[in-house]
Amino acid sequence: MNKTEASAPGKLMLFGEHAVVYDRPCLVTAVNQRIRASVSPNPNNAVRINAPDVNIRDYEVGVEDLGNNNQTPKGIKFVEFGLKNFFEKYHLSSGINVETHSDFSSQFGFGSSSAVTVALLKALSIQFNTNTTNQELFELAYKTVLDVQGVGSGFDLAAGIWGGTLYFVGGGKEITPVSIDHWPIVVGYTGIKADTATLVNQVSKLHQRQPTIIDQIFDTIASIVTKAKECIGRNNLEQLGELMNLNQGLLDSLGVSTQQLDNLTIAARSSGAWGAKLSGAGGGDCMIALVSNQKRSLVESAIVSAGGQVLTVEANAPGVRQE
Ligand code: PMV
Repeated sequence: MNKTEASAPGKLMLFGEHAVVYDRPCLVTAVNQRIRASVSPNPNNAVRINAPDVNIRDYEVGVEDLGNNNQTPKGIKFVEFGLKNFFEKYHLSSGINVETHSDFSSQFGFGSSSAVTVALLKALSIQFNTNTTNQELFELAYKTVLDVQGVGSGFDLAAGIWGGTLYFVGGGKEITPVSIDHWPIVVGYTGIKADTATLVNQVSKLHQRQPTIIDQIFDTIASIVTKAKECIGRNNLEQLGELMNLNQGLLDSLGVSTQQLDNLTIAARSSGAWGAKLSGAGGGDCMIALVSNQKRSLVESAIVSAGGQVLTVEANAPGVRQE
């Protein structure tokens, strides 16, 4: 085949971050901001990667050297390891060109690394006709993330693959679609880029110092996630908002909220949101607020006045697909 292109959505964590790394459940939704990856044969039997969004042009590596180079620029590590894992699984060795394009800035914390990994693996599976199932795609993508980043629950990969809203248990032990017509959320960006691995390691150290207490916090977060799933089923948005506030309090106790995230969540609540919390690892990136139609513009203005940037995103987006 000459050229294959696939795209995968970014994600927003709704409930359960951090606890999900410790085998608890979370709720995640795919967003309508996508990353595209295209693959085509490289006649020189080399791997050539172009990723203009992260300033990578014509990066070349030999097929047999994939993943062996300590100098690989950070922005394309997921692509390089994704290729390596795909070729290894299917006993392939083939020169290939890869090009990636993103709808969104990698700064926002929508999961550009996971989306690019999923889009690339999907494009490869079509190009090489491997009949890879979604579950196999998840396993390949999860191995890739662990190879590059060392930590992570894989929730973002599941959102990229299946799309929609998912109930997800750490490592992909359970992945169940959750049905909701529309997520009435406002997303506020703090303007600060957070490093997920650093925050996950910070929580891990706290867990080592205070195992009993932190495990209890994780268990309470798990109860919030279970309750939130029930509320979605009953379309009880007010209670869902209350659960967001409780989840935010526990994330704060884990030490991952920041002054900016607090400012934005408090501004959202005091202007009439049903609830608000940080979304993702914390330390910066985004917060989300659950709002009625009547309060939406008030909440958006309050977030802006508190120093945030409102991002226009829709939740519940479709999963990975061929373009
Ligand atoms: O920073 P984000 O948006 O990639 O979210 C990280 C969520 C964590 O639970 C902290 C880590 C994980 O892999 O689940």
